Amino acid sequence: MCGIVGYVGPKQAQGVVIEGLRRLEYRGYDSAGVALVHDGAIASDKKAGKLANLDKAIADAPLPESTTGIGHTRWATHGAPNDRNAHPHLGQQGRVALVHNGIIENFAALRSELEAAGHDLLSETDTEVAAHLLESALSGGANLTEAMQAVCRRLEGAFTLVAVDGQDPDRVVAARRNSPLVVGLGEGENFLASDVAAFIEHTRDALELGQDQVVTITRDDVEVTDFDGAPAEAKAFHVDWDLSAAEKDGYDWFMRKEIHEQPRAVADSLLGRRNEEGFLQLDEMRLSDQDLREIDKIILIACGTAFYSGLVAKYAIEHWTRIPCEVELAHEFRYRDPILTRDTLVVAISQSGETADTLMAIRHARQQRSKVLAICNTNGSTIPRESDAVIYTHAGPEIGVASTKGFLTQIVACYLLGLYLAQVRGTKFGDEIASIMAQLDRMPKLVQKVLDGADQVHELARELSDATSVLFLGRHVGYPIALEGALKLKELAYIHAEGFAAGELKHGPIALVEEGMPVICIVPPRGRDMLHGKMISGIQEVRARGARTIVLAEEGDDEVTPYADVLVRLPQVPTLLQPMLSVVPLQLFACELATSKGHDVDQPRNLAKSVTVE
Ligand code: G6P
Repeated sequence: MCGIVGYVGPKQAQGVVIEGLRRLEYRGYDSAGVALVHDGAIASDKKAGKLANLDKAIADAPLPESTTGIGHTRWATHGAPNDRNAHPHLGQQGRVALVHNGIIENFAALRSELEAAGHDLLSETDTEVAAHLLESALSGGANLTEAMQAVCRRLEGAFTLVAVDGQDPDRVVAARRNSPLVVGLGEGENFLASDVAAFIEHTRDALELGQDQVVTITRDDVEVTDFDGAPAEAKAFHVDWDLSAAEKDGYDWFMRKEIHEQPRAVADSLLGRRNEEGFLQLDEMRLSDQDLREIDKIILIACGTAFYSGLVAKYAIEHWTRIPCEVELAHEFRYRDPILTRDTLVVAISQSGETADTLMAIRHARQQRSKVLAICNTNGSTIPRESDAVIYTHAGPEIGVASTKGFLTQIVACYLLGLYLAQVRGTKFGDEIASIMAQLDRMPKLVQKVLDGADQVHELARELSDATSVLFLGRHVGYPIALEGALKLKELAYIHAEGFAAGELKHGPIALVEEGMPVICIVPPRGRDMLHGKMISGIQEVRARGARTIVLAEEGDDEVTPYADVLVRLPQVPTLLQPMLSVVPLQLFACELATSKGHDVDQPRNLAKSVTVE
């Protein structure tokens, strides 16, 4: 979702800002713009479409030199994604330029007020009102910092705002409420951005802003206040990955690179979780053993792919801990008045840690006094910061909009949580936990083995690139993987795809099956005899109706062979671990199929990596 960059320092701001925006492209956007402070005024340009359009516009009509600037990639909320609605927006006299991520909920009232006072608002955005208000405050004698504080006090909703004043050449001011903002601390230069990827090539020292804070950066100084102007503190952190982690390393897509990074991501997420005696230890747990013993219900909440990792985790956590476990979409959970007590553990799963729906859901849970634990990949992001405890996945930065290594490591983290609860509550013996951990330790190698067979899946994807509809079937932990496989295909290849619980097929979805339709079937390991047999019956049912069956089954499973038009083999693992293998061919399949259709895999249409509005 919207990318934001601000810069002040000795370098040419245009280059720094546009490069920063390029590194934020993965968040998803549909227009881009930049504003620079030059000679007592603002110079700006903005264009609908990708950054290349902005590059071209600037090449045709160059902007002046400047060492202070801001930039924005916009994911449209209020108003169509056209040049006029693109950011930055200027104040009435063009003295102020402002960019925004989020939604200003009271913008209609503010707009009427401004129009009544004679302002001409040129766009349909909620953002422009903030630019006009800011400039009015400056005309009233405030400096840019004071003006920003005053404007923020009037705004409702979620926002990160970054602004420059044409008459104040060495200052960039930003503010945040419910939307992400970080400061990059350089030598004689400072940066502002939605996330560290924007400035990682310049500095790895950063400040994470708190809720309702305003920050002013100059070349040599960073000052943080609250919205009333009282001094406030932001939290310093060091980014522990470097530029190479944010680059493609010879792959055509970040997503493909991230799929192939999964063995390492899983290994890193398992690292350092056991003490010398072999007991599980989770550093950022922060909930006492007593707290954990009192839990009588677990609710996993998340959105998108993270939600499916929760669906997988439910099977394992209930099995290991015997605690009832629900899984719910965060936005549904938040607004249905769920039954929450002090003994409910709400687990928020979020790769970015910034998903607004999930954030609002945990706030609600905490208001009800429930315990909240975050499973997150982004150090210092809002969701873990507002949770009682956190288990960080160590997947490294995930840039591709479609989550892959984020998903696998979320399953690992959920499993660690389940085993840790089992250890604390004594529902599993130490040696049982050690044996599951030993199986988990084998997973990086086995994921690699699945990746080594990528050619077969790629070939299949290219062959099926004209398919108009694909079904995915699974049972038990294979069911959420069917949902995730279908989601990947929808979001990347724009093909109609549905995931079903195989047992549900006969209750309706089987009506969709027609001659030649590809149906991807995830077969559970034979260890679960009853499930295995029932899944095979499901495959027979669709095959009898003309489906082309693509079957994912473990090595040595010969029973499935007669029912598979295409057979993709998976290494043998226990049932609960199979999702970490079976999802990999589905990721490869969607990535390759979208590539063969000529789609932009890393930035699928209409999608954002991190959705920071509700
Ligand atoms: C967006 C992304 C999805 C992601 C979901 C949840 O919709 O496009 O890929 O799964 O948000 O994101 P989170 O960062 O909370 O895991």
